[in-house]
Amino acid sequence: MRADAPTRMRRVVRPVVIASALLAAALSAGCRTASAGAKGDSDPALKAVVGSAEAAEIARLPEGPGKALVTERCLLCHGAALIAQQRKDTAAWGRTVTQMRTWGTPIQDEDQTALVAYLAEHFGPDGVRR
Ligand code: HEC
Repeated sequence: MRADAPTRMRRVVRPVVIASALLAAALSAGCRTASAGAKGDSDPALKAVVGSAEAAEIARLPEGPGKALVTERCLLCHGAALIAQQRKDTAAWGRTVTQMRTWGTPIQDEDQTALVAYLAEHFGPDGVRR
């Protein structure tokens, strides 16, 4: 009987020790992740650089009837530079916009023509590199 007691004790104690060690590890890992994320999110210098770079790209988009469509619908997933650096004709822009629509870009058929015309005019094969 006496020999059994310590064994039983150990059986009770061990899972508790393991569980608290795991909990401590999980908590400290969680805290590290949370603080690293919070630091990046709230870094005002980083936000200012990224924000002003994107604002400058948007400001450089030529004025025209399609600009609002681009800024409101096309910049949900990526920046304006990805669009402005292209040189595509009307057919190629049509394919690109159709592709972006299949990926979820909210463009209706009636807006597609105006948008493709704007893109081909400003970012066509003869376009000036910005
Ligand atoms: C739902 C998210 C999403 C939206 C909204 C979106 N795109 Fe894209 N776009 C992507 C992804 C993802 C890629 C990268 C594809 C790759 O790497 O091949 C991409 C890549 C591109 C490219 C570079 C590749 C290429 O085919 O030339 C262009 C140009 C482009 N998008 C234009 C547009 C235009 C114009 C619009 C608005 C009509 C738009 N995107 C809206 C997701 C989106």
